[in-house]
Amino acid sequence: MTEPTTIKTGSTEKKYPTLPGTVGPDVVDIRKFYAETGMFTYDPGFTSTASCQSAITYIDGDAGILLHRGYPIDQLAERSSFMEVSYLLLHGELPGEKELADFTWTISRHTMVHEQLSTFYRGFRRDAHPMAILCGVVGALSSFYHDSTDITDAKQRMIASHRLIAKMPTLVAMAFKYSVGQPFLYPQNDLSYTGNFLRMTFGVPAEKYDVNPIIEAAMDKIFILHADHEQNASTSTVRLAGSSGANPFACMAAGIACLWGPAHGGANEAALNMLREIGDVKRIPEYIARAKDKNDPFRLMGFGHRVYKNFDPRAKVMKTTADEVLRELNISDPVLDVAKELEHIALNDPYFIDKKLYPNVDFYSGVILNAIGFPTEMFTALFALARTVGWVAQWNEMISDPEQKIGRPRQLYVGATQRDYVPVGSR
Ligand code: CMC
Repeated sequence: MTEPTTIKTGSTEKKYPTLPGTVGPDVVDIRKFYAETGMFTYDPGFTSTASCQSAITYIDGDAGILLHRGYPIDQLAERSSFMEVSYLLLHGELPGEKELADFTWTISRHTMVHEQLSTFYRGFRRDAHPMAILCGVVGALSSFYHDSTDITDAKQRMIASHRLIAKMPTLVAMAFKYSVGQPFLYPQNDLSYTGNFLRMTFGVPAEKYDVNPIIEAAMDKIFILHADHEQNASTSTVRLAGSSGANPFACMAAGIACLWGPAHGGANEAALNMLREIGDVKRIPEYIARAKDKNDPFRLMGFGHRVYKNFDPRAKVMKTTADEVLRELNISDPVLDVAKELEHIALNDPYFIDKKLYPNVDFYSGVILNAIGFPTEMFTALFALARTVGWVAQWNEMISDPEQKIGRPRQLYVGATQRDYVPVGSR
């Protein structure tokens, strides 16, 4: 039994339950704090606040550890597949052979989107950002499945989850096809989840498309590395949207909107653009100086993390994968040289050492995606595709949690106190 935590406010001391996790910091249960003290707690950015209980993903940011349902991310990335990790995140255990085959079959049977949805795409500008398109079309899915989705029924929640995991590759590939003016390709269900996505993206109806197994394996690994990441901004957005009982497809659209920002999923696009802008290892010192300059808003994109104060374990796998992919595809990309040298210089610079700023998952992913042939605007859309499974797993967990309540933060009010209305002519 963990000792309760005593909090003193003024001359009053109150005890609050201390909740232990299976691993990681204990949590002080302050649910009665306001009722007992009349005070709120203040924590912008939730740096010290556990917003929920979760059994899905564990991160130890100081040690650089990331576990999904207990399994280390490097083991999953090296030895598992995205379908298997998706099952694990949703159901809590690795699937047996039959369970995996059934799950993969089920997902492949939901890959098509309603034909009418393709007409939605035609309403977007050709140069629309894929994340703008995804916010729209994933939200629009709610109009196709609203009446058939009773979120209080676990089975229906799982069907909605399968639909989302299955349809995201189709929707992301369609966003790409729309931007380049090529026809949409229907899914081909005898291909793997990732192979099917590559074909829908890079294939054309006029030719047979052979999935390159090296690219397929690298892409699958990238999907695994992005599948879930605990209560990050977009996942918390999905949970908050879902806490009101909203339609799950609409909740995912909210998550996509949040992910788009450059401080979150948009960093992979920004990181590659930055590496391209640097262009030559000789210019790195100039950019390091800018990153350290308090008067310059520039930050090294792909560096730093709210939780990891040690190497992001996903970045380690990503770096090795970048090397493998470029070697296997026989590509020499000067951007990779800039990335490696930038990492080397930053990791030896007192500014980055003192602030514990290490490369994050987005630092190397862009190099791989660029080598595979994706334009930078697509990078965050690929992140959204992979993170969808994390979002639906966390959304399911939240809805089935008996302690779940609508998310309703409070505030420290610093505005005007009560005053009387003055008619416009007398102001
Ligand atoms: N380059 C230069 N300085 C930085 C950077 C950076 N990338 N990141 C943080 N700092 C400095 C920052 O200026 C601050 O300095 P000081 O204490 O002197 O004011 C200090 O480090 C702490 O920064 P913070 O903004 O308070 O930290 P945070 O935890 O709120 O922000 C972050 C985390 C990821 C938003 C931030 O590190 C950042 O903007 N990084 C670049 C964007 C990026 O790569 N984002 C992807 C995150 S990983 C993928 C994902 O999960 O979405």
